Amino acid sequence: MSPSTHRPVSLTGIKPTGLPHLGNYLGMIRPALALTEEYRVLYFIADYHALTTVHDGPELSTLTHELAATWLALGLEPGPEATIYRQSDVPEIFEICWILSCFAPKGLLNRAHAYKAMVDANAEAGTTDDDGVSAGLFSYPVLMAADILAYDADVVPVGLDQKQHLEITRDIADVFNQNYGEVLRLPEPRIDENVETIPGLDGRKMSKSYGNTIPIFLEPKKLRKAVRRIVTDSRPPEEPKDPEGDTLFALYSLIASPDATTELATAYREGGIGYGQVKDDLADRLIDLFGEPRRRFEELTADRAAVNAILDEGAAHARSIAGPVLSRLREAVGTAR
Ligand code: TRP
Repeated sequence: MSPSTHRPVSLTGIKPTGLPHLGNYLGMIRPALALTEEYRVLYFIADYHALTTVHDGPELSTLTHELAATWLALGLEPGPEATIYRQSDVPEIFEICWILSCFAPKGLLNRAHAYKAMVDANAEAGTTDDDGVSAGLFSYPVLMAADILAYDADVVPVGLDQKQHLEITRDIADVFNQNYGEVLRLPEPRIDENVETIPGLDGRKMSKSYGNTIPIFLEPKKLRKAVRRIVTDSRPPEEPKDPEGDTLFALYSLIASPDATTELATAYREGGIGYGQVKDDLADRLIDLFGEPRRRFEELTADRAAVNAILDEGAAHARSIAGPVLSRLREAVGTAR
């Protein structure tokens, strides 16, 4: 293991908006955990981003705690090379956010997907453009830029849906650097090509808003039930099947070994295997994969104090990195003494 100063920094955040599902795990958490071998990682809970939509205090608090427990249960080991913290515990972020907002072209934010989607939906509904749009939602990408630029992050592992936010981050940093010189480090997005889109039960992207998710910490019986709801065509067992474009096969291939996947592809093409049997096999694998993490998750959600202690330590470390970056920015813009 090389000493931390030689390792590049990988940083990412997840919003605490619901219990983690297989799409979160495969698209984001698993690839991010794999980077702990090579990178110094900073993984955080974007609770102030969630505040754009979660407006119930106790709920946000619980979701935040559960998300921290999720990362820990799935194998993030906090230490000098791996930091987990809450965004809201790092006040430097919000000062950096203001500074960056003065360099964020409004036109750029007008084009951000989440904001545009709201405006478009309003147009469709015949209401005013900005109905239900808070300033927080509009400036969401600026806060995200602050999250990233505050730590001189080298790479940011995200799902494909966050690609535009990374581009906006780079654009804002670029505008800033054009004015003051190379103060900010431009991060690279790290989008896992194998897992661009994780299909949900109905074949569309797995997403809470489509109600087609498989939550990973379901108890075994319910997990199996969820897997049984994966939509397939109606070919009977004996008939040959096409692995291409089959949701069940796609999910299987993301969980099973390459060998098992090749075997299943052959069985599909030859016929003789039923979807029900494949679902049971997939359910067995998921129950096995998430059995131990689920036990740890339950332990950790029952022990808020233990999780808070880890988050406090993480925040202290995060602040020790963000502080000097903020000083650099204040120096550049002329607010340092
Ligand atoms: N916007 C991200 C999402 O919706 C969460 C996020 C907030 C994030 N800040 C970040 C991701 C910084 C990567 C880096 O999932």
